[in-house]
Amino acid sequence: MPSFEWNKIIASVLTAMIVAMVTGIIASSFVRPRHLEKAAYLPPGAEEGAAAATAAAPAGGAAAGPEPIAPVMAKADPKHGEQVAKVCQQCHTFDKGGANKIGPNLYGIMEENIAAVPNYQFSQALAAHKSEKWDPDKLNVWLYKPQDFAKGTKMTFPGLPKVQDRADVVAYLESLK
Ligand code: HEC
Repeated sequence: MPSFEWNKIIASVLTAMIVAMVTGIIASSFVRPRHLEKAAYLPPGAEEGAAAATAAAPAGGAAAGPEPIAPVMAKADPKHGEQVAKVCQQCHTFDKGGANKIGPNLYGIMEENIAAVPNYQFSQALAAHKSEKWDPDKLNVWLYKPQDFAKGTKMTFPGLPKVQDRADVVAYLESLK
């Protein structure tokens, strides 16, 4: 094949490439990529969290946190609370004079100072609250998410998501005196 034939072939390939490139540039100036308003895929739990946050916002005001416990306290059931508190027993005792385990003994802590159970080494995170006393509102936040109440606490318990469960446990703790 004479060399000018090759030149034609190469020239046509190059022309095709340039045309394609220029078309691409022109096309993208007409068609702008549109971004989705909402992520099409949400990792598991994210949607629930977002829904909970928007649901909590109008009722509770600013930040997403636990549902307020006060309205539920009136019909809180300490007997059910005792059942719920079975999950706490791997780390806590609830009887008078009971031993400290991974967590401190919880007999009579209601209206007592935070992080004040004798012979128990509290974390810095919880000890920072020791001038405060445990009341239903503080326990509501603590039992909802311990890390939200005292960031860095060594209570590695994810929390009780249901407000009724928290209220029942608080009623159970109140009954221990
Ligand atoms: C995996 C172990 C574990 C589980 C389960 C657990 N806790 Fe704890 N808890 C701890 C530890 C550890 C501490 C001490 C936290 C610190 O010093 O930061 C603690 C501290 C507490 C305190 C503070 C006591 C004080 O004197 O200030 C309360 C109240 C409490 N837990 C309640 C509960 C309840 C109620 C449950 C069940 C719903 C529960 N915990 C489940 C480990 C646990």
